[in-house]
Amino acid sequence: MRGPQRIAIDGPAGSGKSTLGERLARRLGYLYVDTGAMYRALTWLALHEGMDIEEGPALEALALRAEISISRPQIADGRQYTVTVHGRDITWDIRSAAVTNAVSTVSAHPQVRTIMRKQQHEMARSGGVVMVGRDIGAVVLSDAELKIYLTASLEERARRRYTELEERMGVHNPALPSIEAVMHDIELRDSVDREHMQPARDAVIIETDHLSVEQVLDVIYQYVESRTL
Ligand code: DC
Repeated sequence: MRGPQRIAIDGPAGSGKSTLGERLARRLGYLYVDTGAMYRALTWLALHEGMDIEEGPALEALALRAEISISRPQIADGRQYTVTVHGRDITWDIRSAAVTNAVSTVSAHPQVRTIMRKQQHEMARSGGVVMVGRDIGAVVLSDAELKIYLTASLEERARRRYTELEERMGVHNPALPSIEAVMHDIELRDSVDREHMQPARDAVIIETDHLSVEQVLDVIYQYVESRTL
């Protein structure tokens, strides 16, 4: 029995793709690659080096020399994976508001995308991978055996993101943004990311508004089984 070796999961911010991708990879014993974390790590490095994030050629040079690594988590602090850049652990730093606000601009540069896509394609070469992002099924792994595209309404995605922040930051944390602010951020990011966000023509589209994580996982798993030879 051989299941689909490359599984692409795409969808907008807050659609649940990271949670589901990680759970699915764990269930199948596959490698989990969150490509958003790669764009975030590059963005963190660009900000750390005080670069102008509008400068495509400079970011291209940075992407070429940046040693970004995403590996299985070595610390049990709720992380899905460990992200390092030049050996420094930046797993939580890439979730900061500064990185979140800048990452769409950095990832919109075509030169940056070309480099990242090549690295991502390489990471999936030997199979046994669940890769999540925006353009995985349509571009990076256009020959993936299974492509999933997750959707959810803006309101539902904002609610999920807010709950996640509440859990991570604590309900009484004065730095906790309002749900309206979270929704506004997602809306802004959607508009910049939209260009790279088309589902592949052969993707299975799953509308997740009224489904729990377990239910979506079951639906995806049925597709995995139906494509197992
Ligand atoms: O999934 P995320 O929010 O961590 O992704 C961060 C940003 O990276 C997102 O705003 C869009 C960009 N991205 C992309 O352009 N292509 C991908 N394959 C993954 C992420």
